[in-house]
Amino acid sequence: SLVHGTELFAAARKGHYAIGAFNTNNLEWTRAILGAAQELNVPVLIQTSMGAAKYMGGYELCQQLVEATIKSMNITVPVVMHLDHGNYEAAKAAIAAGYNSVMFDGHDLPFAENLEKTKEIVALAHAKGISVEAEVGSIGGEEDGVVGEGELADVEEAKQLAATGIDFLAAGIGNIHGQYPANWKGLHFDRLQELANVIEQPLVLHGGSGIPQAQVEKAISMGVAKLNINTECQLAFAKATREYIEAGKDQEGKGFDPRKLLAPGTKAIEDTVKEIIGWMGTKPVK
Ligand code: G3H
Ligand code: ZN
Repeated sequence: SLVHGTELFAAARKGHYAIGAFNTNNLEWTRAILGAAQELNVPVLIQTSMGAAKYMGGYELCQQLVEATIKSMNITVPVVMHLDHGNYEAAKAAIAAGYNSVMFDGHDLPFAENLEKTKEIVALAHAKGISVEAEVGSIGGEEDGVVGEGELADVEEAKQLAATGIDFLAAGIGNIHGQYPANWKGLHFDRLQELANVIEQPLVLHGGSGIPQAQVEKAISMGVAKLNINTECQLAFAKATREYIEAGKDQEGKGFDPRKLLAPGTKAIEDTVKEIIGWMGTKPVK
């Protein structure tokens, strides 16, 4: 069933585990993510970037797709429908469309404006019980047109954003969207610790794809309670689809049927989601 994020993630930080946040693109992705969470009996967050929402046909359609899929698959675990890296307009549109949670990503604005707009989004969202994620510093690399320089989060700025009443905070700690370069130096655990010391809210680790398991586990033990994964599912989907086609299976019998063609990739997403949730120690639903 659909739930707001506030209490779920607060419990995760308190319990030293994380809840997976996975990006969806279509019906297959949605079914794979929800099916994996249901099989493991854990809560899950499903999110759309602004680009994915545009691709899928808008925020209302995304919200309704997730809601209807939960119903049709008899999903009983808690599911949070969330906007990933939204600008001001997108955050307002997702709130109006009935999302349970929104990220307002103001990293590209002067900090005073990021702070001011975060406050406004918190007021709008909280009036409906909707949870809010803000961003301090930035995530390196690019995701669906959102680009960041990878600045380390400033602790003072983080405190000011936290004081707006946000429900979780995404912080730049050396994390990068997309694939990590071979010379990546790893997460900045010192900065993560400084943030965790003064921020009560659950911290969010973006760019989760490609971070070694040990670093993910350490970050979670320090206060990360939401782990964002996108690229890993895309790579798994592409690989399985390519193998199916390169093996010529699309040319055997009715193998070109889209339902058959998309099946290996969908299964690969489900397996990936299950594997990564296994790293997070997510507390199962009673
Ligand atoms: O906002 C989404 C995430 O930060 C995903 O990053 O594609 O590197 O896993 P990723
Ligand atoms: Zn991100």
